[in-house]
Amino acid sequence: MVQLTDFRLEVEGTVEQQMIAYLTYYGFSEVANHSLAVASEAKRLASKFSADPEAAYIAGLLHDSSVFIPNKERVALCQTLNLTVYPEEKQVPMLLHQRLSKVLANEFFGVRDVSILNAIECHTTLRSSPSKMDLIVFLADKLQWDQSYAAPYLDELNKALEMSLVHGAKTYIDWTLKQGVLVLHPWLRQANQWLNQQEE
Ligand SMILES: [Fe+2]
Ligand SMILES: [Fe+2]
Repeated sequence: MVQLTDFRLEVEGTVEQQMIAYLTYYGFSEVANHSLAVASEAKRLASKFSADPEAAYIAGLLHDSSVFIPNKERVALCQTLNLTVYPEEKQVPMLLHQRLSKVLANEFFGVRDVSILNAIECHTTLRSSPSKMDLIVFLADKLQWDQSYAAPYLDELNKALEMSLVHGAKTYIDWTLKQGVLVLHPWLRQANQWLNQQEE
């Protein structure tokens, strides 16, 4: 049975160097570059919205750290870790990378700050009543999306971010739901409900 330790490497250096070493070893150097960009973006948003820029930077560095765990092993690995897997995550195991990246941030990269771990955990779907750090890492990931062309929502998202993080999240989630999602993760559904209840 697949175990978390199967994926462990002996790496040294800063969190940034270790993240790059892991993702490069497993053949995901483009995700390492994306993670560096998300980390800088998260740091910038944290400065702008009075959150901890260094914490945001670490969360950005590690948000996709579990990307190398093969899709076919994600559900089984979560089960060995005693994590409850939602039916939507069984259908689309890629959705589990946010929760497994939290586990790796803690177990492999030594992160103990709960605000960082929680923000990593919901960077794809957000969640109901998100913290400021949750919103920052979620939005930094969308501002620095990992496609070769510009994100179609970018102008609208930047405009919304002139008002608030909540406006930014609402703008992005409205856009993504309009596009249609493969499956609607319960946390995304709850995030959307929560955002719609916030004052304009
Ligand atoms: Fe991700
Ligand atoms: Fe990402």
